[in-house]
Amino acid sequence: MAENKLLEFRHISKSFPGVKALEDINVDLYKGEVHILVGENGAGKSTLMKVLSGAYEATTGELYVEGKKIEKNSPRISEELGISMIYQELNLVPELSIASNIYLGHELRKGPFVDTAAQEKRANEILSEIGVQIDSRTLVKHLSIGAQQMVEIAKALSRNAKVIVFDEPTSSLTDSEIEELFNIIRLLKKRSVGMFYISHRLEELFVIGDRVTVLRDGRQIKTDVISNMTMDSVIESIAGRKIENLFPHTRKQAGEPMLEICGLTGEKFSNVSMMVRAGEIVGVSGLVGAGRSEVARAAFGVDPYTAGEVRVCGQRLPGNSPARANRLGMCLLPEDRKVEGLALALSIRENIVISSLKAMNPSGIVGQKKEREVVQQSIRDLGIATSSMEKLAKFLSGGTQQKVVVAKWLLSQSKVFIFDEPTRGIDVGAKSSIYQLMDDLVGQGAAILMISSDLTEILGMSDRIYVMSGGSVVGEVDSADANQNDILQMAFSNV
Ligand SMILES: Nc1ncnc2c1ncn2[C@@H]1O[C@H](COP(=O)(O)OP(=O)(O)OP(=O)(O)O)[C@@H](O)[C@H]1O
Ligand SMILES: [Mg+2]
Repeated sequence: MAENKLLEFRHISKSFPGVKALEDINVDLYKGEVHILVGENGAGKSTLMKVLSGAYEATTGELYVEGKKIEKNSPRISEELGISMIYQELNLVPELSIASNIYLGHELRKGPFVDTAAQEKRANEILSEIGVQIDSRTLVKHLSIGAQQMVEIAKALSRNAKVIVFDEPTSSLTDSEIEELFNIIRLLKKRSVGMFYISHRLEELFVIGDRVTVLRDGRQIKTDVISNMTMDSVIESIAGRKIENLFPHTRKQAGEPMLEICGLTGEKFSNVSMMVRAGEIVGVSGLVGAGRSEVARAAFGVDPYTAGEVRVCGQRLPGNSPARANRLGMCLLPEDRKVEGLALALSIRENIVISSLKAMNPSGIVGQKKEREVVQQSIRDLGIATSSMEKLAKFLSGGTQQKVVVAKWLLSQSKVFIFDEPTRGIDVGAKSSIYQLMDDLVGQGAAILMISSDLTEILGMSDRIYVMSGGSVVGEVDSADANQNDILQMAFSNV
């Protein structure tokens, strides 16, 4: 076994000012193993992988690669040791070809010149080895997110990677892209590549994982083979408590229509009509690319539309004015929170109160004490992992940043909410709190339109479900009569 060991973290700890991000972590990785890392947002998963990539230096502890202690790691050294990282935010240059991206920094040369032809030939070979049929001369900007990820994998293989780290690789992939990724991972296993795989989509553990390590608050709670675990035991280890009922939503008495989208037509969708009443949670299901987010953005006034109208609480919204929509009591939790929802240079407190200040006191003056109380409450409700509410958003883990945006909108005192993928990248404990808060909101008479690619979430939380495909609404079902298969079939009907 020992000769099959690729690497080992021994007693690794890492501190940041005010946070112990990792404490005494002991994890190893074998050839051909898929080792899954799970844990709440801010548990330390990405930090551990950054210690491996040399982006962070461990405060104490040792890292061994193939039995050899690494004295001083750095991004350069870890790359030379055959360790490759594939982050969720892909790091490709859009204006360059696939081949140039793969060989960026490691160009194949003929004398002093870059041997473009050789690069393209070799890149095509690597791509076809992993079953990707795209010409390596294609510019990266023309590729889907899934295809870009394949290019990142090809890049790792071009450097003879022995270890590949995937940090939340599937959060923006379509189902078929996920299937493709899993096939490549199976292929890499056969070639003895060892992989760390981070995900909040727990069902994936059982499909692709060999062993699982659970982190909580920077500590290693458990490492075991997947066959010794069940979904419930994983959830309990992650959250540190049993979660009896992930979906607390109960059907409320539906009231007046609060959000009416009538015949909305825009660049990527046509003649879309949806309605949500007070007290209702209405799901919008469909494949990635079905036009769901585009409809949400147009309805809220971020993007233009060419025909149709939107009414909020009976009042017609003029297009193109999110501010106006906001004043009428509507808000949109956007899909891409990092870009649209969060001010990275502001603190957690400032981010959360930005849009709720006016609601707390229309005169605009809110007591500091009240403000701090409200922020503290959200931090507790959502389990926001931070040492202080004054911590700047840019220093938070990916999922914690998302929680801050969710907290901000939950506090905004809006009446009509559009949530676009509200729990993507969010840990299972916080998911259950967000669901509880959504249920409370509709209990108080709000209306929620929830776009989600997670069918269990759609079925578990919605009263009714619209299914979109190819830019149109292709079906509407009551969730009491719906099942995953019917919804999937509709989702594919117009692609
Ligand atoms: N550069 C930094 N400066 C200060 N604190 C940091 C820094 N990087 C990470 N942290 C803190 O370290 C802790 C662990 O963060 P990490 O990003 O490893 O979490 P994670 O498990 O990857 O979470 P997520 O699931 O949300 O991605 C968090 O409390 C985070 O705020
Ligand atoms: Mg992370």
